[in-house]
Amino acid sequence: MTSIKRTKREGLHPYVQYLMDSTWGYGRWQSEEGIPAVRGHSVEDVLGLPLSPWSRMGAEGTFINLSEQSVDDAYVCRIAPGGKINPQKHLFEEVLYVLKGRGSTTLRQGDKKPIQFEWQEGSLFAIPLNVSYQHFNLEGKNEALLLGCTSAPLMMDLFRNKNFIFNDQFVFDDRFVGNQTDMNGDGTFYEKYQGGLWETNFVPDIRSVRLQNVEHRGKGLKHVFIALSKSLMKVHLAEFQVGTYKKAHRHGPGAHIFIIEGQGYSLMWPEGDEPRRYDWKPGSLISPPAGWYHQHFNTGDIPVFHLAFHRPQTVASEGPRDQIEYEDEDRSISQLFEAELDKKGLKSHMKREV
Ligand SMILES: [Fe+2]
Repeated sequence: MTSIKRTKREGLHPYVQYLMDSTWGYGRWQSEEGIPAVRGHSVEDVLGLPLSPWSRMGAEGTFINLSEQSVDDAYVCRIAPGGKINPQKHLFEEVLYVLKGRGSTTLRQGDKKPIQFEWQEGSLFAIPLNVSYQHFNLEGKNEALLLGCTSAPLMMDLFRNKNFIFNDQFVFDDRFVGNQTDMNGDGTFYEKYQGGLWETNFVPDIRSVRLQNVEHRGKGLKHVFIALSKSLMKVHLAEFQVGTYKKAHRHGPGAHIFIIEGQGYSLMWPEGDEPRRYDWKPGSLISPPAGWYHQHFNTGDIPVFHLAFHRPQTVASEGPRDQIEYEDEDRSISQLFEAELDKKGLKSHMKREV
């Protein structure tokens, strides 16, 4: 009888390496795009990243690939005053947040009449799957900056064919019907879904979205999930109060957290390691690596408000959410928090919890 020798291998399996070297995929596409790629676990200020001309888009941009995420990525795109991007269409999903400026987007689905909607700083929307789109900067003197999160890594590495990803003509009219009224900001609010889910195709201003209390995730925490254009990449908005912090938890890959308001830091660590600290402020983007514990702390004098992009929901999160309750956390977690508040003359509201 033949015995099978088991060996522990570090890094990529040779077959995966072969696929990456010999066929087109996300890594190859990214290098072909000719724009910078930012790596690491966080970006201090996505509005201040260096951008390069991006010929496919007809604009300027940079990729943001944090925490070696292989199911989704992020990017920043700058549209010059009065400018527009080249028309785009693709088989990966995309959620866009408007960092700066005012503009419009035209959607063309198959042979249906084009539809158009206007956006401004704070707007949130998704590009419906495989719908042709084009963004326009409506300001003659000011740039427009967009932050996108896409499922390009997953889709490209799965199908490994550029022509299919960018030139397939299939119309997903089960997802998006393509009426002008689809983009007017209406929707349905599901109160009981994981603490609240807003289903819509367009959010004119994320600050106006109703949040719900989700105390089981953290003291005074409010949040809401948003499902856009029946995309598999949902997002959530969360607010946590002055002098508080969220419970540590871990889950699968792909989360990208963008800080809208407030100041603080996150601790992130793989099980068994010491927590590592990442400071943030408005404009910061942070991505917890798959399976790492992470915990967010408000050390400022206003509530923290953030937007979180999620992985495509078909990617499993490796079991139920694993959360550390306040009473079970290491005492050093709250001691660090209190020391940081002390420096600013602020008080912790967590004492009863920890
Ligand atoms: Fe998380």
